[in-house]
Amino acid sequence: MHFISLASETDFDGWRAAARALALSDVAPAEVTWTVKGNQPELFEPAALAPPLEPPDRTFNVPARFVELAQTAILHRDPQRFAILYRLLWRLRNHHDLLDVATDPDVAQVAAMAKAVRRDEHKMHAFVRFREVGRERESHFVAWFEPEHHIVELAAPFFVRRFADMAWSILTPDLCAHWDGHAVIFSPGVGKAEAPSEDRLEETWRRYYASIFNPARLKVKAMQAEMPKKYWRNLPEASLIKPLIAEAARTTDDMIAAAPAAPRKPQQRHEPAMARKPPAADSIAALREEASDCRACHLYKNATQTVFGEGPQHAQVMLVGEQPGDKEDLAGKPFVGPAGQMLDRALKEAGVNRDKVYVTNAVKHFKFVPRGKIRLHQKPNTPEIKACRQWYERELASIKPDLVVAMGATAAQSVFGKITPINKSRGRLIDLDNGAKALVTVHPSYLLRLPDADAKAREYQRFVDDLRIVAVQMKKAARAA
Ligand code: URA
Repeated sequence: MHFISLASETDFDGWRAAARALALSDVAPAEVTWTVKGNQPELFEPAALAPPLEPPDRTFNVPARFVELAQTAILHRDPQRFAILYRLLWRLRNHHDLLDVATDPDVAQVAAMAKAVRRDEHKMHAFVRFREVGRERESHFVAWFEPEHHIVELAAPFFVRRFADMAWSILTPDLCAHWDGHAVIFSPGVGKAEAPSEDRLEETWRRYYASIFNPARLKVKAMQAEMPKKYWRNLPEASLIKPLIAEAARTTDDMIAAAPAAPRKPQQRHEPAMARKPPAADSIAALREEASDCRACHLYKNATQTVFGEGPQHAQVMLVGEQPGDKEDLAGKPFVGPAGQMLDRALKEAGVNRDKVYVTNAVKHFKFVPRGKIRLHQKPNTPEIKACRQWYERELASIKPDLVVAMGATAAQSVFGKITPINKSRGRLIDLDNGAKALVTVHPSYLLRLPDADAKAREYQRFVDDLRIVAVQMKKAARAA
């Protein structure tokens, strides 16, 4: 029996060197026991172990994809991962295309482990909440997080990029990461008692969360899928969730009591409702889940999370914006910041119920440059818009709206697949290849940027007039149904 003791839970280099030596010495997976220093089981008698292997001077090739997959999967908490990875490596020597066999149990297991690790990394990006300790010049931000897998080293570069100007520590039971503005260092894990529990930023965060919480759009299941309950205990806003849900239920009951009793007519569609139901794999929920892992361009690196579209699966109208802003990036929802408030106001004035439309963006990650504590919005460029267009196309195929509203130049570029000047196309219905119509208008943040009050009022009215076309289309479809 070969007994391999790795230096740490995340010792990929140690695993790789040992696995290479074992495979070149023809040591079958069943003859190897993998452990991590400090975790060795006592039943191993050193006398029963084979002598250590000499590092081989030969080598062999595996697909680069395997190395990438193994680097991620090795961070999974399953103690069997080292053995499973070695078994896969062992089999890859004689079956170079094995990774293409998605149904192979070893391939499937390693892929699922890598996926779980990436998901945990996203959750850490989204749910770490720093608390301020110390005062003014010595202020330091500390967060407590309980990752499911060994992801602290993987996730740390994101926090370095994102909070480069702050001194911070992220404490976890496995490993702690500390940034002093120059370098990250890691120290052993600690207990939760080490983490501070109160600070002056919490109230601000709670107030912000309550302000973006929209009871009319509350979907508890979707919310729990995005923010699973196990993370709630470490989130300052968590104490608000229960009362806000209770409040939302009351508001909804009031709305139901006030609604007309007659059943509502179904909306007109391009095809009969049964036939046009998208396959389960392409439901918006499935697409959202898939996109949470999107790395099609570099923007995922600095953004907190993918901000996917939101709205009814069978919405008749799809509104497309540019990209999430600062608030949307934190909340994980489109159009909840200042541009969203402007949009809500204009929709209301035009007679369009936002809850009936699907709202999304051409680009699903926030692009910005840090300026001190502020994150300055940056316009996405053509390669970024193109990389993200697959999601718009799949949302379109899933929702099958009758009308797509492109708000601003980036949205128009995505909707028409080419650069499209706003003023030439604005305010009229244009045929799309899939049988739907498109309407081009300005982006609500354009209105926010106008310095002149008269111009602002005038342009706002034009925007509302464009949205009235949406209201008319919705009414026509309702009448025809
Ligand atoms: N601007 C956008 O284009 N989309 C958002 O979600 C927010 C601001």
